[in-house]
Amino acid sequence: MPNNSSDKKLEKVKKVYSFWGKFPYLYSAQDVITFFGRAKIIRSQAVKKIELKIGDKVLEVACGSGRNFSYLVEAVGKGGFILGFDYSQEMLDAAQQLYKRNGWDNIKLVQGDAAQLKISKDNFDGVLSVLGISAIPGWEKTLQRCYDVLRLEGKLVVCDACLFTGFLNFLNPLLKIIYSRFAAWDSSKNIPEKMKEIFGNVNVKNFNLGTFFIATSVKKDR
Ligand SMILES: C[S@@+](CC[C@H](N)C(=O)[O-])C[C@H]1O[C@@H](n2cnc3c(N)ncnc32)[C@H](O)[C@@H]1O
Repeated sequence: MPNNSSDKKLEKVKKVYSFWGKFPYLYSAQDVITFFGRAKIIRSQAVKKIELKIGDKVLEVACGSGRNFSYLVEAVGKGGFILGFDYSQEMLDAAQQLYKRNGWDNIKLVQGDAAQLKISKDNFDGVLSVLGISAIPGWEKTLQRCYDVLRLEGKLVVCDACLFTGFLNFLNPLLKIIYSRFAAWDSSKNIPEKMKEIFGNVNVKNFNLGTFFIATSVKKDR
């Protein structure tokens, strides 16, 4: 039984994504709503921001059912390597089915809590997380782990959602309820600010009336 707030939040993640992992086609369908029909554009932009080269090693934190794999496979080529990390075994099962179906044999999947990520340091050319950090209870520790596993000049790219700031902000209370319940989303996190604190730099680009951002930080010698 979960005994503290973080354990309870992880339990919620497990429950919510156990459902989505069992119905990956439903998850793909809700992608259209979440991204206002611009999922392909925004996901591919996020991967481009990592500036990966053929043969590179990339970590995807909270990879879910593998919605970003096609862009990552294209970026690193057959000689590259993709490590997909996620807390939900059901989402990873869906991701495995996807990569097997496509014959992508340079992907490895690992289950665990990203806040406890234990991978050798300075190892990856890039790290990606799409709609992951906002759902991860230990998100600040996770961003620090992302910093640790990058090589110097390697990039962390986080693509995530935020609330409306303009005339549509009356929808925010409803969005908070729906996405908290069905996606374990926590809109109160200031992800770019934390990235800046850890990396010393962040570049942010907004999409979809400001409801999506792509934040990029580079690991510098400090
Ligand atoms: C909205 S989904 C995003 C999945 C995928 N990145 C995408 O672009 O579709 C959020 C993902 O975060 C994962 N997640 C939540 N908390 C986590 C944690 N503590 N460690 C690792 N993954 C976590 C969930 O299991 C889920 O797959």
